[in-house]
Amino acid sequence: MAAPPHWAITTHKGGTGKSKLIELIAAAAAENGDSVLVVDMDAQANVTRRLRAQIPVEPRDRKDASLAAVLQRPAKGEVERILVKSGWGGIYTDRITIAPAHLDLELLALTASQAASSRRLLTALAGVVDDFDLVVIDTPPNLLSHLIDVAWTASDLLWVPVEPEYDAVEAAKRVVQRVGEDADMLNPDMQVGGFVVNRFRSNLKLHNQRAGEVAEILGPDALCPTRFPELVVLKDGSEHAKPMAELGSDGKAMAALASDAYAWMKQRGAALMGAAA
Ligand SMILES: Nc1ncnc2c1ncn2[C@@H]1O[C@H](COP(=O)(O)OP(=O)(O)OP(=O)(O)O)[C@@H](O)[C@H]1O
Ligand SMILES: [Mg+2]
Repeated sequence: MAAPPHWAITTHKGGTGKSKLIELIAAAAAENGDSVLVVDMDAQANVTRRLRAQIPVEPRDRKDASLAAVLQRPAKGEVERILVKSGWGGIYTDRITIAPAHLDLELLALTASQAASSRRLLTALAGVVDDFDLVVIDTPPNLLSHLIDVAWTASDLLWVPVEPEYDAVEAAKRVVQRVGEDADMLNPDMQVGGFVVNRFRSNLKLHNQRAGEVAEILGPDALCPTRFPELVVLKDGSEHAKPMAELGSDGKAMAALASDAYAWMKQRGAALMGAAA
């Protein structure tokens, strides 16, 4: 089987919903019958917790069973030894696998000057990914950092969650700018897939104006037509580490939105990768 698409969720701003989008995509993938590998490249390990990754019970064992240990100097396919299932149960446990994060991922910056160190995630994933329909990589809220270099080098497509407010739109533009400047050095095949608006309040003129600006960054086709509202159930899912579909009618409505966004990302991603091939 050919390697599946590798998507990084990334932007140069904290709290815009990167990890939330990973939760939503992973659930939507599982609900649509796809098998997904979630790679948590953020030392905060938010996605590892929110997907209830079945990591070792003993805190002292957790580093060795995480990307922090694997990425020190990985053998080809080494990520396999740390893969765990989501503890959400049912189809989610069947179809969501996680490469968990650990706080010590931050120390990987110390390896940045070593030869080809930005290719280490790619090496660690080699071959292992063939069992999945999709690989999604969560990233920390940085732009010029070693963890970002490692995550982007392993990615075909970058997807950028954006709040429709000034600073987040600027952060999205900086992602596009860096891809333009550094893709040759990191990964010449990498592309920006598009933008997903989060925390959208349709009654705010400002939000509509900023969403319009996002559509101008790479053209309207790069803007996901599904926009996620600011809604307490979205926060509840992260807080309580549960899939949206299990959180009442609001949760089911958000799961349906996530499914729409996932379908758009898959379709656009396939078109972009097909065009690049
Ligand atoms: N549309 C939304 N409505 C309500 N809460 C949301 C929404 N999107 C995200 N949140 C919540 O906001 C918080 C921040 O989101 P999240 O952790 O996904 O951001 P992030 O970009 O991954 O942050 P970081 O940069 O720290 O990694 C979380 O508690 C999340 O559940
Ligand atoms: Mg996050």
